Amino acid sequence: MSLTTIAILLSLYFVGTSFAAKCPTIVTQANVDVEQYTGLWYEIFRKDNQFQSGGKCTNATYTLKPDGTVGVLNQAINSMGVYEKIEGYAVVKDPAVPGALEVNFGPNQKGSYNIMSTDYKEYSVVYSCIDIPNTNINIEFAWILSRRKTLPLATINKCNEILARLGVSSLGLSATPQNC
Ligand SMILES: *[C@@H]1O[C@H](CO)[C@@H](O)[C@H](O)[C@H]1NC(C)=O
Repeated sequence: MSLTTIAILLSLYFVGTSFAAKCPTIVTQANVDVEQYTGLWYEIFRKDNQFQSGGKCTNATYTLKPDGTVGVLNQAINSMGVYEKIEGYAVVKDPAVPGALEVNFGPNQKGSYNIMSTDYKEYSVVYSCIDIPNTNINIEFAWILSRRKTLPLATINKCNEILARLGVSSLGLSATPQNC
C-alpha cells in the first residue's frame, strides 16, 4: 500500500468519524423479543461518548415491568474509580418495530436504543445516532454487549461487521475493561 493510499484512507476515516454526514438508515433486528432480551448485559466495546468517558466495568440490567416498559439500571466504575449507577426506563415506541426503544433517564435525558442484532444469550449490538439539526454533524453511540464479561473473537468480528455496515469503524471502538 502506498503512502498516498494510506493518507487517503486515514482522511476518509477521520471524515467518517468526526464529520459524518447524516445518520445512516437504521434497520433494527426484526421481531425482537424484549422479554428474552431482559437481564444482565456487560459492555465489551463502545464507541466512546461524553457520558461514559473513562468508565469501566460497565453493565446494564433490563427488567420487564408490569406496564410493559423496561426498567434500565446502568452501573459502572467511573474515571475517578467511583461506583456509579443510573436508573431509567425504556419503551418500544412502535410495536411493529420492537427493536427500537427509547430510553429515558429523566427530563430531557432521552435517547434511542436500537437493537441491531442479538441472539439474546451471547451478544447484542446496539446503535443510536442523532442528527444535529442544520449541520452536517451527527452524534453516534454504539455498543457491543455480552451476557458474560468476555466475548469470543469470532463473535466480536461478527458484531464489528454489523457496525461497519452502519459506518462505525472498529477503530473507533474502545474495549471496556471488566476486571474490577
Ligand atoms: C455491574 O457493574 C457494577 C459496577 O462495575 C458492579 O459493582 C457489579 O458487580 C456488576 N454486576 C455484575 C453482576 O457483575
